[in-house]
Amino acid sequence: SLLSRKGRGILVAFEGCDRGGKSTQCKMLVDYFKTTGRDVAHFSFPDRTTIIGQSIDSYLQGKSELEDHAVHLLFSANRWEAVPKITQLIERGTSVIMDRYAFSGVAFTAAKKGFDVTWCKYPDRGLPCPDIVFYLEIATKDAMSRASFGNERYEKAEFQERVAKVYKELKSDDWRVVDALRDMNEIHEEIKSTVIKLEDNVKYSELKNLWT
Ligand code: TMP
Ligand code: MG
Repeated sequence: SLLSRKGRGILVAFEGCDRGGKSTQCKMLVDYFKTTGRDVAHFSFPDRTTIIGQSIDSYLQGKSELEDHAVHLLFSANRWEAVPKITQLIERGTSVIMDRYAFSGVAFTAAKKGFDVTWCKYPDRGLPCPDIVFYLEIATKDAMSRASFGNERYEKAEFQERVAKVYKELKSDDWRVVDALRDMNEIHEEIKSTVIKLEDNVKYSELKNLWT
């Protein structure tokens, strides 16, 4: 595909267990991009605003039940429905910062009994591949002590431990593990400098496809 003269945008994903500060760091990075005049867009998965996202939201709040395979596919479909927007933004030079992505999809489903990572990855195979993934690492006991842990489905200590184990299996060279227990400004500085170093390298390269 044609890349604009200023190059494409970069695709950044934030991942990790619940209550690790992903949303805060996402927002801080988006604000940094804005204040430095970079074009940027912010996505969160699940995107609870779409029709698919509304069923996921109801499931997460425990207002409805869904079969485990079925909800896995809904989470994936919720990413695929955003792909036309994401690829268009990236191609036109806008960077996209995502709060959770396919790695969450795999980690949370594979943490359930009777699921394997290979099966879980398949529906997300071919999605735009993030140029970098920041994994905000936090011990379950520290996450649990943070505000409002325990309000939604999956926010239980034993399950989060299982999720963390799957994440470990998914880590690749494009991941940066960030110690999430530190001061949020310190974390932001680290993330910012990593992104700045990466930017020029990826600007004129093609976006890859995930797990292909
Ligand atoms: P959130 O708290 O970041 O909004 O995410 C909601 C929950 O959904 C969180 O516990 C992680 C889980 N999740 C999945 O199970 N599969 C997915 O594909 C995604 C994106 C999130
Ligand atoms: Mg949550």
